[in-house]
Amino acid sequence: MQRISLILEDKPINHSLSLTDTNALPGEDKSVLQIWGRASLKGHVKISGAKNSALAIMAGALLCPEDCRLHNVPSLVDIMRMGQILSALGVKLENNGEILDINARHLGQSQAPYELVSQLRASFFVIGPLLARLGVARVPLPGGCAIGARPVDLHVRGLQAMGAEVHIDHGIVHAYVSGNNRKLKGAKIYLDYPSVGATETLMMAATLAEGETTIENAAQEPEVADLANFCIAMGAKIRGAGTNTIIVSGVPNLHSVEYSIIPDRIETGTFLVAGAITHSEITLSSVVPDHLTAVIAKLREIGAKVIAEEPNCLRIVPGRLRATDIETLPYPGFPTDMQAPFMALLTKSEGDSVITETVFENRLSHVAELNRMGADIRVKGNHAIVRGVPLLSGAPVVATDLRASAALVLAALAAEGKTTIQRLHHLDRGYDNLEGKLRQLGVRLQRVQEEAEEEETSVPESKVTAPSP
Ligand code: UD1
Repeated sequence: MQRISLILEDKPINHSLSLTDTNALPGEDKSVLQIWGRASLKGHVKISGAKNSALAIMAGALLCPEDCRLHNVPSLVDIMRMGQILSALGVKLENNGEILDINARHLGQSQAPYELVSQLRASFFVIGPLLARLGVARVPLPGGCAIGARPVDLHVRGLQAMGAEVHIDHGIVHAYVSGNNRKLKGAKIYLDYPSVGATETLMMAATLAEGETTIENAAQEPEVADLANFCIAMGAKIRGAGTNTIIVSGVPNLHSVEYSIIPDRIETGTFLVAGAITHSEITLSSVVPDHLTAVIAKLREIGAKVIAEEPNCLRIVPGRLRATDIETLPYPGFPTDMQAPFMALLTKSEGDSVITETVFENRLSHVAELNRMGADIRVKGNHAIVRGVPLLSGAPVVATDLRASAALVLAALAAEGKTTIQRLHHLDRGYDNLEGKLRQLGVRLQRVQEEAEEEETSVPESKVTAPSP
């Protein structure tokens, strides 16, 4: 059984979205991505700005009543959703390509809209800046990828330590600061786990608090340091971001800023795996190789060469792929966001690999889909045992979360025949123009509208909008 397909326009869906167009959300999008495998990639990829930095920094812009200009902002559904949330809070936004202007002078609403927050976990991070600026915030419990329970207790406990009253009512977190000036107070906070989001929420909240805040066992991810650098550029006093102890001395207010977001290390890692899994040599820039130490070390163990050509350019040179073991950990350990892409790579490596997911409890949903493509993976608790196979074969598969989608794309590049990936909204959340970038490397792929079941197995060549390599 196969599907009749309608060819969509050549550019990916997320690029046609405007930051404030609430009708443009592709929630019920029925398009699928078809990828013809055994691809040989060639050329160069321009890496976009980091999604997770951009989202946190957009929340951080609420701290400042003046103009914030951000450069290198990726074009993604998640960024658009965050823009809509800020807009609903009274913030002015204007985007022009990779530039996003934000002005939160008239930050008036303290309640973030449920329909939007429920779709994007990072939007919960507005609770810190809202409390710091207004002394009150009401934010629905967040959504995001279905990769585990993802509670917000560390955010809440930290805000309480800073003097906020917090209670959860009908799925909404209500937080307020009492007293005449409604200011949070500096505090010594120890995080039970180095949560990225909690570190960011508390660091932002502390920038305008009275006195000094110390966050111990803080997350050390590059995106945390990027957010800190953005706040510092607005006049915040932050030391130690990027280490496990962050010290913030509160200031009365922050000022206008122009800031460029770091390159996306997960997008970079995904393209490095694309080179390795297809035995292709490609280059990537601009990247920060230091943000990818664990990823590059694993690629080398698996058998690929990763060469730093210039300070901000990496070349992947393929080699014979060997099995290895991977355990996901907070930074600088191996990133959980690269676990699914590396699982795709290890399905094609010689020998048995064990992947252990320690960050999220439900992040192995791509296993079943990779097995549909001929992979040999067994799951035991939070371990996946991957036995390398000589060949994957294209199949209809379903994307279950953002990085799982990337794993399926990577497997499809290496597989024999055509893979059809459904539920593309996950992919659109986090990869800026992935299809365009892959097409430029010579991959044959197309996004088509799934219309009905049909008899044929292949799309006639004449209907394929993407040029064949
Ligand atoms: C961020 C990233 C996400 C990445 C993750 C880990 C953004 C927008 N997303 O997510 O891509 O996969 O870091 O690198 O930046 N936890 C609690 N209580 C809390 C907060 C978290 O128990 O209050 C737990 C979570 O359930 C999870 C672990 O801590 O098991 C890590 O979560 P966290 O670091 O907070 O991830 P996010 O900030 O949600």
